[in-house]
Amino acid sequence: MTSLLDPLTFPRGPSMKNRFMLAPLTNSQSHPDGTLSDEEYRWLTMRAEGGFGLTMTCAAHVQAVGQGFPGQLGVFDDKHIPGLTRLAERIKSERSVAILQLHHAGMRSPAELVGEAPVCPSADAETGARALSHAEVKNLVEDFVRGARRAEAAGFDGVEVHGAHGYILCQFLSAEINQRNDEYGGSAENRWRILLDIVDGIRERCGPDFMLGVRLSPERFGMQLGEVTRFAERLMQEDQLDFLDMSLWDVWKEPEEEAYQGRALIDYLTELPRGRTRLGVAD
Ligand SMILES: Cc1cc2nc3c(=O)[nH]c(=O)nc-3n(C[C@H](O)[C@H](O)[C@H](O)COP(=O)(O)O)c2cc1C
Repeated sequence: MTSLLDPLTFPRGPSMKNRFMLAPLTNSQSHPDGTLSDEEYRWLTMRAEGGFGLTMTCAAHVQAVGQGFPGQLGVFDDKHIPGLTRLAERIKSERSVAILQLHHAGMRSPAELVGEAPVCPSADAETGARALSHAEVKNLVEDFVRGARRAEAAGFDGVEVHGAHGYILCQFLSAEINQRNDEYGGSAENRWRILLDIVDGIRERCGPDFMLGVRLSPERFGMQLGEVTRFAERLMQEDQLDFLDMSLWDVWKEPEEEAYQGRALIDYLTELPRGRTRLGVAD
């Protein structure tokens, strides 16, 4: 029998000393320019001191226009590196794996916070978000990769790409929200492309031991369980990720979609072939 106190290995990077992973938790304690505050440092390093095998930061935005909350941690500029270095160093000194979550809120960035209209795969009347041009999508991919490079330069063991909860990558994945008609919209393959490009970019430009995870929502936020399980399977089979983090909100729940009810939501994920990729959930 495996115990939650047993170590856990990954295809790349250090092992976890136990199987407790701190879920990413936004607490709005960073400075207005996204640099780390002493409060955020203390909050996170206390979790590492408390024994978590892996300590993940709150969502850190990869572009200024992608800020979702006041006091959010940033990773969109080299000025963030010194604070992140201090944080990664302390987390690792507790033998906790240090992971930074990369985020962009897309149309959920409040205009009054970012000082301009938020951006989205396609224009959204409700939020006033404008559609990204094709060149801007490429630039967004690049900024996720740059965020990962900054995290690596700061000494983090790896990053998690936030593709869940209705933020920009989830907006791209969603057939409801993403109305683009270029290579980043339309078919499932096209809607998945941005995330796959980010994964490829991070793998190409970060070191061979740098850990990479992706977080997805299996339902709500415009997600369809059948499509998400196909995408999850593809991500795990490609052997590019170290872990897939599925955000279920309630780990014992049944799916919302009627066609899938009668079984636990988590069973649809644990039954997928996952190769060497580790599967995680928050509860
Ligand atoms: C205050 C708060 C902040 C959160 N911030 C993030 C975040 O930055 N990134 C993320 O992926 N999820 C975030 N979440 C979701 C959590 O990581 C987690 O998936 C969720 O709380 C379910 O786990 P629980 O039942 O243990 O609370 C947040 C949740 C809460 C309550």
